[in-house]
Amino acid sequence: MKHSVYLTPMPVRIWHWLNAFGIVTLIITGLQIRFPEYINVFGTYKAAIRLHDTAGIVVSISYVLWLVYYLFVAGTLAKLYVPTTEDIRHGLFRQAFFYFFNYFVGRDNPHHSTPESKFNPLQKVTYLMIMVVLLPLVIFSGFMLMYIAPLRELILMVGGIKTLVGVHFLLACCFCAFLFIHIYLATLGHTPLEHFKQMWDGWEEEEVQEKLASGDSSGTTH
Ligand code: HEM
Repeated sequence: MKHSVYLTPMPVRIWHWLNAFGIVTLIITGLQIRFPEYINVFGTYKAAIRLHDTAGIVVSISYVLWLVYYLFVAGTLAKLYVPTTEDIRHGLFRQAFFYFFNYFVGRDNPHHSTPESKFNPLQKVTYLMIMVVLLPLVIFSGFMLMYIAPLRELILMVGGIKTLVGVHFLLACCFCAFLFIHIYLATLGHTPLEHFKQMWDGWEEEEVQEKLASGDSSGTTH
């Protein structure tokens, strides 16, 4: 039988799609800025830079909203995003084995999302790295590139403008790689669109055994 679990509250969904739209805009404008001789999507070089800067500000503001929500409103950042020792010891391997092998022979996903444990161990590690390390770094390096003159001293301290541009570009490449894997893995639900629907309306549907369905189930269900 099927039941639905309310997994993703509205503020997180709004943050997620704003952030996704912002990052995709940053990637496309960034490509034009980096390779102007090959890519021209937004007309002039100047227009690409202006849009890149604006998208960067949108992503930065939405990041602060995400952080404030998870730290102070929901208070669930550590519980949802930080992997446990068990996750590191066995969970990561179990989940990777599911994605690389068990999924293709029709076995069940070892992780079942609940509002208290929304992410599998691989998601926890990846999302934690993305949200707590890579996103702040790309935002910080982006701001340094936006304000080169006032932040001159700081830029020299981190190795100069060339190093900064290189680091910003490498971080952007990490985001591109993450995005491809993220979207592919998001299609591996019971149906290809299940996780996308969940990220849109908050509710995830899952198959449960009769015994589980009649007993206690954590979180709001319908
Ligand atoms: C077009 C781009 C994107 C699509 C289609 C997409 C899709 C999804 C979907 C379907 C989910 C829910 C299922 C899951 O957890 O895997 C999700 C969750 C998530 N995505 Fe994305 N995503 C995109 C871009 C991004 C970007 C750019 C980032 C980070 C920089 C990101 C970070 C996250 C995080 C942290 C979650 C978990 C949110 C939470 O419930 O707290 N996504 N995404």
